[in-house]
Amino acid sequence: LPGTQVIAVSNREPYIHNKTEDGASLQIPASGLVTALEPVMRACGGTWIAHGSGTADRETVDSDDRIPVPPDEPSYTLRRVWLTEEEQDGYYYGMANEGLWPLCHISFVRPSFRESNWSIYQQVNERFADAVAAEARAPDPIVLVQDYHFATLPAMIRKRLPRATIITFWHIPWPNSETFGICPWREEIIRGLLGSSILGFHTRFHCNNFLETVDRFIESRIDRENASVTLEEHESLIRPYPISIDWPPAAMKGQKPVEDCRRIVRERLGIGQNTRIAIGVERFDYTKGVLDRMHAVDDFLTRHPEWIGRFVLVQVAAPTRTKLESYRRLQEEAIELAGLINEKHGDGSYQPIMLIIRHHEPREVFELFRGADICVVSSLHDGMNLVAKEFVAARDDDQGVLILSQFAGASRELAAALLINPYDSYGTAEIFQQALTMPEEQQRERMQLMRAQVRERNVYRWAAQMLVDASRLRNHQRILD
Ligand code: G6P
Repeated sequence: LPGTQVIAVSNREPYIHNKTEDGASLQIPASGLVTALEPVMRACGGTWIAHGSGTADRETVDSDDRIPVPPDEPSYTLRRVWLTEEEQDGYYYGMANEGLWPLCHISFVRPSFRESNWSIYQQVNERFADAVAAEARAPDPIVLVQDYHFATLPAMIRKRLPRATIITFWHIPWPNSETFGICPWREEIIRGLLGSSILGFHTRFHCNNFLETVDRFIESRIDRENASVTLEEHESLIRPYPISIDWPPAAMKGQKPVEDCRRIVRERLGIGQNTRIAIGVERFDYTKGVLDRMHAVDDFLTRHPEWIGRFVLVQVAAPTRTKLESYRRLQEEAIELAGLINEKHGDGSYQPIMLIIRHHEPREVFELFRGADICVVSSLHDGMNLVAKEFVAARDDDQGVLILSQFAGASRELAAALLINPYDSYGTAEIFQQALTMPEEQQRERMQLMRAQVRERNVYRWAAQMLVDASRLRNHQRILD
């Protein structure tokens, strides 16, 4: 699509500037969305509109709130939108993260829906629609709308720019129609999303759930053959596009050989050189199954005490959304549970669970992946989960075992992982045993299969498939004109 302007919209920005004692520091946030979209925007150029959330963000932009990024080698523009505390509370914490996030993950954290949050959510969506309109140089840009923060944005953009090609990607699961039906604004949300030209989910299962939801709550025409919905003369394609990562990921640049990483990681963490490490890396989020994973470690050491002293779960957890009670409680529970398990199986010098609560930059995470024996992804429900794919990408030595939840979208593609039901701690404990005793040859076979999969189905393919579909739509439109 040469010459076509690309505008992406997400809540989270790819680069955050924060104030420090001696100026500003740059942070790359822990977000699957950012991991995936950033290399695509580098390749496409254009503008990325996002909430400016850093404490030094305002000092780094020009008078139009723009900054060229990536900072070391600019290839596209970041336009920051400023949100008041009230807007953040209503739109981001309230409607997006206390309403839609638990709703779509069916996570047993009860979603809460407040009218005031919903109204701020829509107002903020309007503000982003204005920003898109302000950035548009022609009447028909391609707009990439990202995630559950912007369910009503596609229809708002369509109003301002009727000829735009709007590709919306929903990065989290879409639940079945009964579950979604408890949202008081289910119709408005569906109508908002149907402003898109293309609406993408990670899996066909989520596309089908969405079509069922439309069928149940909205008067429209559904074409199941073509997987499309027509509402008031406007047709939206509903398609699966499994998201992925850059290959090779930028964080692999300059990594030391695996042997060195193994040694360095153990030295740094004060873990014996012969101790086996299982690594978990996530935002501290209740959908990730961190507590379940710890229970499984407890069961594992109880049933296989020969591993006491020789096995450690290193759990890296980046604090996230801590303004919300459910997230704060999870942190407290995790700290307490880790303490109990360490007391039960550990002693003065040995602790089976090492909980490290802080943000890690991608480079550090990759070093940990390379230094570990196992990576555990035990999400209770996850759209895709890119940590699983990053672990695979980090292991160019073809060694290491991935333990992966069957409830993460990634399990459809990475079938060569050891799949678990994270709710079954007994079963997960036995998988730890299988992982720790897996012969090198089998590790290699599985890892090679997974690496071929991620290499081929990388994030450029994710973006290319959407853009090819968009280009077909645009050609079709041109003929009709
Ligand atoms: C998930 C969401 C993203 C979000 C990320 C980090 O991956 O799908 O939209 O950016 O979590 O969460 P945060 O609230 O910190 O942006």
